[in-house]
Amino acid sequence: MGSAVVEVTNLRFRYAGSSEYVLRGLDLTVSSGELVIVTGPTGSGKTTLCRVLTGLIPKLYRGELTGWVRVAGLSPVDAVRAGKVTYVGPNPEEQFLFPTVDEELRSYGVDEDAVKEVLTSLGLEALRSSVIFKLSMGEKQRVALAAAIARAPDLLILDEAIALIDEPYLTAVLDHVVKLGRQGSTVLLVTKAPHIIRRLAEVGARLILIVGGAVKVVGDARALLTTSAVDAHPFLVGLRNITVPGYSVAWEVVQCRAS
Ligand SMILES: Nc1ncnc2c1ncn2[C@@H]1O[C@H](COP(=O)(O)OP(=O)(O)OP(=O)(O)O)[C@@H](O)[C@H]1O
Ligand SMILES: [Mg+2]
Repeated sequence: MGSAVVEVTNLRFRYAGSSEYVLRGLDLTVSSGELVIVTGPTGSGKTTLCRVLTGLIPKLYRGELTGWVRVAGLSPVDAVRAGKVTYVGPNPEEQFLFPTVDEELRSYGVDEDAVKEVLTSLGLEALRSSVIFKLSMGEKQRVALAAAIARAPDLLILDEAIALIDEPYLTAVLDHVVKLGRQGSTVLLVTKAPHIIRRLAEVGARLILIVGGAVKVVGDARALLTTSAVDAHPFLVGLRNITVPGYSVAWEVVQCRAS
């Protein structure tokens, strides 16, 4: 295992104007080259954690933040400034800095070979000179992902960023994610989509379950999804109840509020 890329200790955060803490003593360590699924019920604090790791909290979102956070050995703001962390959120329109696909992809000094490879694999070559705002949402999401992948940052955070991606591009994105890991990048993929969690479990991802603003379960995703334990968290039980080749029972997502 490589050096720690994400180090979080006793992280607590509440948004300004709210008396309730969203992150409640969250601890997390992620090493370089790791592929990590971050999952958990809606409202459990996953996006809030991403905002802390990318410096959006406290730069953009105000509130009370305590605890220790380091990304690639730096404060999150310094890590972003140094180009070490790239975030793609659920709304691709918030990501873009340039008007066309080509300019967006070639930003941050990405070399032409990397741009070509990612554009081809994500079916975007024909759209290279297109104006981004004229594209469909799915195409915009592919452009945002392509730009992030081409940059090959130390830490890539994808927060519900592949929800609109269909095959064959879903496979292409997941292949890129695995390849980035082999090249030493760390990928945190936030998702509640069981089919994506399954696919990542097959390639050795670690799973982190966040409930109520704290890490409840950490472990090898495949093991967590295939071993039955009577005291398992209901969210994990829901993820296990999936029918895909090689697995059992019925496919159902358990919706449960953070507690
Ligand atoms: N800008 C904000 N101001 C105040 N409260 C917020 C803000 N953003 C999120 N929250 C609250 O913080 C809590 C955690 O939200 P967060 O978006 O981090 O959850 P999540 O785990 O990402 O959920 P989901 O799975 O639905 O994406 C929720 O109760 C939410 O209402
Ligand atoms: Mg979220």
